[in-house]
Amino acid sequence: IAAVLGPRSIVLVGMMGAGKSTIGRRMAARLHLPFTDADTEIETAAGMSIPDIFEIHGEAYFRDGEARVIARILDSGPVVLATGGGAFMRQETRNRIRERAVSIWLKADPDVIMRRVRRRADRPLLQTADPEATVNRLLGEREPVYRNADLTIASRDVPHDRIVEECLEAL
Ligand code: S3P
Repeated sequence: IAAVLGPRSIVLVGMMGAGKSTIGRRMAARLHLPFTDADTEIETAAGMSIPDIFEIHGEAYFRDGEARVIARILDSGPVVLATGGGAFMRQETRNRIRERAVSIWLKADPDVIMRRVRRRADRPLLQTADPEATVNRLLGEREPVYRNADLTIASRDVPHDRIVEECLEAL
């Protein structure tokens, strides 16, 4: 796989709750590559949590920071990178990912996503009166774009290592 990847990174895209961070961490361990989580890097760069960035500076500011952080990570050498669910929606970010990485869409069904994000207050986009409707709306907007990833793997309720194997086989 190292030979196939060359200097390219692996970038996981897909909705909140699809398992990008969990699967990414395990893939990185298997491939002996560093794992990087874009959301964590943004929080470090901003010195505050994602909900605070949204609340204090707004979504547009978050998105600009997210694009810069992802560009910098991809420039820094091969890693396995988990991106936030909205990152791949920006054309400039998709282009960079296409140049420097193999992208994998972790595709999860709405009910799986809802179950995984339910009890958590760390997704500002889902702090709405009807989170389920919000997830469905976002999926409607995003799935046609996520589809442009190089590979698609179904993220479902099977052991994580099985999803990791499927990702590695697909590379
Ligand atoms: C977002 C997803 C989050 C985080 C932010 C916005 C989105 O990341 O970047 O809350 O737009 O879908 P995860 O996909 O890791 O939850």
